[in-house]
Amino acid sequence: MNQQSEPFYDVNRTYEDNYEQGPFGAFAAALDAPEQAADADSRGASGETFMGVPVNLAFGIPAGPLLNSRFTTAAFRMGFDLATYKTVRSRAWGCNPFPNVLAVHPKSADGSLTPGSAELDEGVLADTNYERPISISNSFGVPSQDPDLWQPDMFRAIEAAGPGQLLVPGFQGSRVAGMSEEDYIADHATTARLVKETGAKVMVMNTSCPNEGHNRLLCHDPLLIGRITEAVKREIGDTPLMVKLAYIPDDAALELMVRSTVGRGTVQGFSTINTISARLVDAHGAQALPGKGRERSGVCGHAIRGAGLDMVARLAALRERLGLDFAINGVGGVTTPEDYAAYKRAGADSVMSATGAMWDAELARRIKAE
Ligand SMILES: Cc1cc2nc3c(=O)[nH]c(=O)nc-3n(C[C@H](O)[C@H](O)[C@H](O)COP(=O)(O)O)c2cc1C
Repeated sequence: MNQQSEPFYDVNRTYEDNYEQGPFGAFAAALDAPEQAADADSRGASGETFMGVPVNLAFGIPAGPLLNSRFTTAAFRMGFDLATYKTVRSRAWGCNPFPNVLAVHPKSADGSLTPGSAELDEGVLADTNYERPISISNSFGVPSQDPDLWQPDMFRAIEAAGPGQLLVPGFQGSRVAGMSEEDYIADHATTARLVKETGAKVMVMNTSCPNEGHNRLLCHDPLLIGRITEAVKREIGDTPLMVKLAYIPDDAALELMVRSTVGRGTVQGFSTINTISARLVDAHGAQALPGKGRERSGVCGHAIRGAGLDMVARLAALRERLGLDFAINGVGGVTTPEDYAAYKRAGADSVMSATGAMWDAELARRIKAE
C-alpha cells in the first residue's frame, strides 16, 4: 500500500496503540510537515455553514476515526473542514477487545446492505480482505478517556482549526448499573457541560450506539431523547446541538423524533446515519468477531450508502412538510465525490465520511477539486 491509501487509523493495531501512536499514513505526514499539507486553495468565504458557523466546505469526518487532537489536526491539514472529535463520555470507558474492525462483503452485486433484509440476520461475510469500494464493521463500544484527559485535548483540537474550519465535539451519555432514568438523563447534561467548557462552538450528541441493552438504541425512544435534550439545553444554552441518529425505518417514529426535539427548540440538527447492525460470519459461517455479545456488529462504508441517502431524503421531506428549520448532516458510505454530491442532492446541508476518509486521505481535496 502506498502512503496515501494507508488508513490513518491502523486497523491492524489496537485502539490504545492508535490513540498513542496515530495517526498514520498521509495524516502522519501532514502532522510532520504542516506547511506542505496546508490546504491553501480551500481558504476563503464560500457561504457554507455548519449549524450556523461559516466553513470553507461543509464536508468532513464524523465521530469515530479521529481519536484525539493529533487526528483532528491532521484532518484539518488534509482539507477536511469539519473534524469530529470521537464521542466522549463523563467518565473513562474501556474499548472492546481487538480486533475492532473487519472488512465486510455483502452478497449483492453492488455491495449494498438493505435495512430489514434477511441477510443482516443470516450473516454477512467479514474478514481481513479490505477491498474497494470499502465496507467495514466497527466494534469499539465507544471508549472514552477521563474528562481530565479529554477536556484539555479537546481544547487543543479546537485551537488547531484553520480559517473556515470547525472542530465538532461528539458526546454521549453513559448508562451504568444502578442508574435511574433521571441519573441517565443527568449524565448527558453533565457530559454536554464538560464539552462546552472546552470552548466548543457546536456539539453532536450520539444516540445511535447500542447502549440501551442488546440491539436497542437510544434513538428508538424519541420521548426519552426529548427529555434528555431539554436537560442538555439547560446546560449549554445557545450552543447549537445536533443529534446523531441511526437508520429509523418508520416515518411516524422519525416525525416524533423531530417534533420532540426540534419542535421544542432543544435541537438544531440531525446527523445520520450511524452503522447498520448485522450478524457477522467468517468463511465457515462461524461468528467473525471473537467474544460474547459480538455476534452482531455495526456495518459502515459503501454498503450503507443507500440507507443513509434514504434517511436524509426522508428527513428533508419532513423538514419541508412540517415547516421546521433544522440542519441535516448526511453520513454513510461516502467514498467518492459523486457520493458527496448525491447526499447534497438528497437534501443534506453538510456531509461527512468516516470509512471512506479512513481509506482515502485525499477525499476532501478530491471533492474540492470537482
Ligand atoms: C472506526 C469507527 C469508529 C466509530 N466510532 C463512532 C463513535 O464513537 N461515535 C459515533 O457516533 N459514531 C461512530 N462511528 C460511526 C460513524 O460516525 C458513521 O456514522 C458511520 O461509520 C457511517 O459512516 P461511514 O459509512 O462514512 O463510515 C464510527 C465509525 C468508524 C468507522
